[in-house]
Amino acid sequence: MDSDQLKILLAHTPVSELRYFETTGSTNEDAFAWLIAGAPDFALVVANQQTAGRGRFQRRWITQADSALAFSVILRPRPEEMPFLQLYSPLGGIAVAAGLEQLQLHPQIKWPNDVLIGQKKVCGILAETAWDGINPLGVVLGIGINILPAAIPLSDSLSFPAGSLAEFLPDLPDRWEILAVILQQLKGWQSRMGNEAFMRYWQEHLAFLDQEVEIRGVPGTELSGRLVGIDPSGELILATDTGEVNIQVGDVHLRLRNN
Ligand code: BTN
Repeated sequence: MDSDQLKILLAHTPVSELRYFETTGSTNEDAFAWLIAGAPDFALVVANQQTAGRGRFQRRWITQADSALAFSVILRPRPEEMPFLQLYSPLGGIAVAAGLEQLQLHPQIKWPNDVLIGQKKVCGILAETAWDGINPLGVVLGIGINILPAAIPLSDSLSFPAGSLAEFLPDLPDRWEILAVILQQLKGWQSRMGNEAFMRYWQEHLAFLDQEVEIRGVPGTELSGRLVGIDPSGELILATDTGEVNIQVGDVHLRLRNN
C-alpha cells in the first residue's frame, strides 16, 4: 500500500487529503502536527504499523503491521459544532459502530467510546483537541481497530478483554473497505452531532445498560451503581444507593461490577 493507492480506494469517501505511513510512531501525533501546520478539514493519516501509538490514560497503543486499522482524522469544528466539542470522541464510537453494523456485526459502545463486540473491545478511540488560546483549532480523532487476532496486545497489558473483527466475521472484507465505510459514517454522524438521532443511537448501543457497573477515576474514588443511560451533554447517568449521579467524559474507567 502507498498513499496513491489508498487515495484511489478512498476516492468515494469525504477524505480531503491523505498521508499514509508504512510505519510511524503515532498517527495522532502526525495528525496533530499536520493540523497545526494547516491541514484541511477531514484530512486523514493512516499507518500500517504504529510503534508508539497513544491510548487513553497515557497508555500505549502499539499496532502490529498488517493486522489492524490505525488512523487519525483531522476535523475542523464549524461554529455550530463548538458546543459539542466533548462529543467528538463519542462521534468516533458511533461512526465505528454504525460502520460495523453495515458489515452485519452487532457492536456496542462502552461509554464513552470504546467499541465492543461480544463483550470484547475491538476498537479504541482517542480524541485530542488543539487550541489556539481559548479557541479550538481542530480535533484529531484517532481510531484503532483490531482486525486480526495478531493486533491484540498481550493480555497482561490490557485493562479490558480485547477481540478482533476476524473472530466475529468469517468473511472479513478488505481492511481498507472497512476504513472507507467508517469514514463515510463519520461524515454522516458529524452533521448530527448532539442531535436526537445521535443521542438515540449512542444510548441504544450502550454496553452494560441497566447493569451494575463500577466507575474508577482518581485512585480511591470508586463509584458503583446501575447504568441508567446518558444525558443530553453526553454524561453517564448512574443510579447509586444515594441517588442519581452524572459522570463527565474524562479520565474515568467503566467496567461491569465484579468483573
Ligand atoms: C484507547 O486507549 O482505547 C484509545 C486508543 C486509540 C488508538 C488509536 S490508533 C490510531 C490513533 N493514533 C494513536 O496514536 N492513537 C490512536
